[in-house]
Amino acid sequence: MSFGQNAPGAAPGPFSILERNELVPYFPFKINRDDKIWVITDPFTGYERELNEAAFWLLKLCDGYRTLDEIITEISGAYNADRKNVFDMSAPLLKKLTDDGVLWWRRERLSYWKLPAPAGVLWDLTSRCNLRCRHCVVSAGEAGRDELSFGDCCKLIDDFATFSIPQLILSGGEPMIRNDFFDIAGYAAEKGILIQVATNGTLIDETAAQRLASIGACVQVSLDSSEPAVHDNFRQCPGSWQKTMKGIELLIKADVPVTLAATVTTMNIDNIPRLYELANEMGITTFRILPFVPFGRGKYADELEVAPARMRELTMFLHSEKEKDGINIAPMEFECTFSPPHGHGIDAGTRIGCDGAISYCTVTSSGEVLPCNYFSGAQTENVKEKDFRWIWDNSRFLNYFRSLKASDVKGFCQDCNWLPVCRGSCIAANFAHGDIFQSNCHCWLVHPEK
Ligand SMILES: C[S@@+](CC[C@H](N)C(=O)[O-])C[C@H]1O[C@@H](n2cnc3c(N)ncnc32)[C@H](O)[C@@H]1O
Ligand code: SF4
Ligand code: SF4
Repeated sequence: MSFGQNAPGAAPGPFSILERNELVPYFPFKINRDDKIWVITDPFTGYERELNEAAFWLLKLCDGYRTLDEIITEISGAYNADRKNVFDMSAPLLKKLTDDGVLWWRRERLSYWKLPAPAGVLWDLTSRCNLRCRHCVVSAGEAGRDELSFGDCCKLIDDFATFSIPQLILSGGEPMIRNDFFDIAGYAAEKGILIQVATNGTLIDETAAQRLASIGACVQVSLDSSEPAVHDNFRQCPGSWQKTMKGIELLIKADVPVTLAATVTTMNIDNIPRLYELANEMGITTFRILPFVPFGRGKYADELEVAPARMRELTMFLHSEKEKDGINIAPMEFECTFSPPHGHGIDAGTRIGCDGAISYCTVTSSGEVLPCNYFSGAQTENVKEKDFRWIWDNSRFLNYFRSLKASDVKGFCQDCNWLPVCRGSCIAANFAHGDIFQSNCHCWLVHPEK
C-alpha cells in the first residue's frame, strides 16, 4: 500500500502529523473517478492530481467528522497495515494538500444543523456573458455544459416556493442573456418570491426595464467607474459603460429600485468617491462596494487586489458619507472597526462571520448548491438530483460551513476586540489566499502596514 505516489510536488520528510492526531481534517473538493484512477482538481490552478485507491480512501475519510487518529485506525484496519506505516505514508499527501489550502483542519467535528429556509438564494442562471471582465469570479463567457433547462428552473422555483424562500437574486454570468430570463423571473414572481437581479445592465432596453418593473424586481447593476475607458477596460468590452449607463437610466425611469455595485480594485479605487457622486446625481437607491477577491478569472489578475490600508481610507470616506443626506450605502466589510470596540470575549458557539449556508446560499448554473460561489469545485449536491430543501438540510458541505465558529479563526483575530462583531469576516477571501482560517487577509487591523 502507498499513498499519493502520483502526487507530484508532495513534500517529502516529516510532517507534524502526530500533532494533528486529535484534529479533524476535511477535504471538501470533488474526487472524480477515471477507470482505476481517482483525480482531484486544484481549485486555484486547475491542475489535476491523480490518486491511487489508498489515497482516495484517505481523502474520502477526511470528511470533517473523523479525527486523523480515527482515520488512520480505520485505514490500517481495512488494509491490515501497521499504524506507523499508514501515518508515514499519509503524511506527504496530507501536508501537500494542507499547504495548498485545500485540506482544512479544525478541533471540532462537523455537526448537522436544522435551520429555517434561507432568507435569500443567489442563483446563477447561466455562465454565459456578453462581457469578459478581468476579475470575474465565475469566469463567465460561454454557457456551462450542464446548465439548468427551463423545466429544471421551474421545478427549482417550485421547491423554493414550497420552502417559503422569500427572495431570489438572479445572477450569473449575465442572467438577462438567457432567452427565457423573463419566463423564469416571472414564474418566481408569480409564486410570491421577491426578485432581485444582479446584471451588468448592458441588455436593458425600455421593454426590459418595464418588464422588470412589472414583476416588482429590484436590480443591482455593476458600474466600476465614472470614467468610460476604465470601466470598459476592466469589463473588456468597448462601449459597455454607455450601455450600462443607458440601462440604469431606463430602470430609474421605470421606477425600478437600482443598486449600483462597484468592485473595488487598484484600477478604480481613486475614482470611487466620484462614482458615488455620480450615483447620487443619477437617482440610484443604494451604493455598494464589493472588495475584489482573486477567484475565477480574477486569479490571473491579483494585481487588482487593493491593500487593506487603502480600502480603509475608502471605507472611512463612505462611512462618513452615511452621516449626510445622500443615498443609502450598503454595509461594508470591517466598517465595525470605526465604532467603539465591543470588548473581548465571544460565546463559544458564535458562528463565523460568513452567513453563507446560514441565511443564504448559491445555486450554480449547473444546479450545485454552495455557501457562496467562491467555493465552486466543492463536493456538494445538485438540484437536478435532490430537492433544494433536502440539500439545505443534509448537505455535508453546507453543514460544515454552519459548524464553523469565530474561534476557528487563527492568530491576530483571537485577541481583537471586534471579533464578536466581525466574527472573522469573509473566509472566502482567506481561502483565495491559501489558508481559510487565517486572520482576515483583507482586514486593516491585521495588515495595517499594507
Ligand atoms: C458575478 S457578477 C454577475 C452579474 C452580472 N453579470 C454583473 O456583472 O453584475 C455579480 C457581481 O460580482 C462582481 N464580481 C465578479 N467577480 C468578482 C470578484 N472576483 N471579486 C469581487 N466581486 C466580483 C461583479 O463585478 C458583479 O458586481
Ligand atoms: S462580472 Fe458579470 S459581466 Fe463581468 S464577466 Fe462576470 S458575469 Fe459577465
Ligand atoms: S482583526 Fe480579525 S476580528 Fe478584528 S476586525 Fe479584523 S478580521 Fe475582525
